[in-house]
Amino acid sequence: MKASEIRRTFLDFFAEKGHTIVPSSSLVPHGDPTLLFTNAGMVQFKDVFLGRESRSYRRATTSQKCVRAGGKHNDLDSVGRTARHHTFFEMLGNFSFGDYFKKDAIALAWELLTERLKLPRERLWITIYQDDDEAFGLWQGMAGVPAERIVRLGEKDNFWSMGDTGPCGPCSEVHYDRGEEFSCGPNCGIGQCECDRWLEIWNLVFMQYNRDERGQLTPLPRPSIDTGMGLERIASVLQGVNSNYDTDLLRPLLTFVEERTGQRYFSDQRGFPFRVIADHARSCTFLVSDGVLPSNEGRGYVLRRILRRALRLARNLGINRPFIHELVPVIAEIMADAYPEIGARSGHLAQVIRQEEERFLSTLAEASRVAQEMVDKVRATGGTVIPGEDAFQLYDTYGFPLDLTEDLAAENDLTVDKTGFARAMEEQRERARGARQT
Ligand code: ALA
Repeated sequence: MKASEIRRTFLDFFAEKGHTIVPSSSLVPHGDPTLLFTNAGMVQFKDVFLGRESRSYRRATTSQKCVRAGGKHNDLDSVGRTARHHTFFEMLGNFSFGDYFKKDAIALAWELLTERLKLPRERLWITIYQDDDEAFGLWQGMAGVPAERIVRLGEKDNFWSMGDTGPCGPCSEVHYDRGEEFSCGPNCGIGQCECDRWLEIWNLVFMQYNRDERGQLTPLPRPSIDTGMGLERIASVLQGVNSNYDTDLLRPLLTFVEERTGQRYFSDQRGFPFRVIADHARSCTFLVSDGVLPSNEGRGYVLRRILRRALRLARNLGINRPFIHELVPVIAEIMADAYPEIGARSGHLAQVIRQEEERFLSTLAEASRVAQEMVDKVRATGGTVIPGEDAFQLYDTYGFPLDLTEDLAAENDLTVDKTGFARAMEEQRERARGARQT
């Protein structure tokens, strides 16, 4: 099933069940200073959950653009290393604002997965919050999931919060077992390892509380439901591939990079730069489309970091020209049916990205030479850590964000002294403050 059909099937299913289809909101959260980017489907409904805002509907469904590259939910470090993490992804969700609760949320999810999408029941595992006996009873009694496939986990895994403050509650996740052959070893298991055997496909949050600045939980006016299913993940399952990168959402981008570099993509470690480039190109395209511009702080700096990182990896593949913007039309073609704004403005988006690439390329060759010298120096002395001052020099003189230096270090089996980097940054701020005062 194509990703666009999955999106449609999900929204139509919930529309049939009385939900209003609501368009995705912007990646830049509206009037919410607690959040860098929209990182979940519920973000646009935060005030509805809190009872501060009311809508004409009590059930909604969306396919929401999300970016997780900073703040509480940050997947940046996992991108390219696993088959399932992204900075940009789409979250399919259904929401109840004080309407149905746990029982219906579980029944609806199970019906969609097993009857509409026809996933094999025996591959589905459930996690619940440790003392949520009600959820256990519903999964076992109503859905018929055997007790041994319902796993109780603690707060870290099964209590979902939007951020440090805001709506939150216990949750229950549906995991897809890719099979024994993906096992990472004797300790492989849900909640025990991070391997690609267990694919979390859907998270059902039983929204019950608001967390305030002091960490205190107050019950919400009405218990509610917030769910999130990763489109790229469910697409990998329904398309019978082992990685999100092999779905029709991302594979054409890898193919494009293969054609332009003349190098073949491999799904193992060698494919890391391909995957990061594909992922980051999508983030950049959607962030620019939602009005974020590269800059040295806040959202603009996250954009700058991911774009520069993708470009440096393209250089590792032998491309020494602005390149990431060339992926924009490919992305537009894949996504334009769901996000017409990307199709309509792809020329403009590519141009903004290209300008930033040119800015960075003017220093990248020199920066790479200096960085290589730093690596060689560490190696010559038998060390394993790039000093924080060196990483800071790359940042300050050549616009090398810390993540790039970390990538470079990892490529050479080294690490970076991040504390030293932060110290050097702070010292420079102090000097700047001193200079302003004299
Ligand atoms: N808001 C929940 C999540 O992001 C569904 O996992």
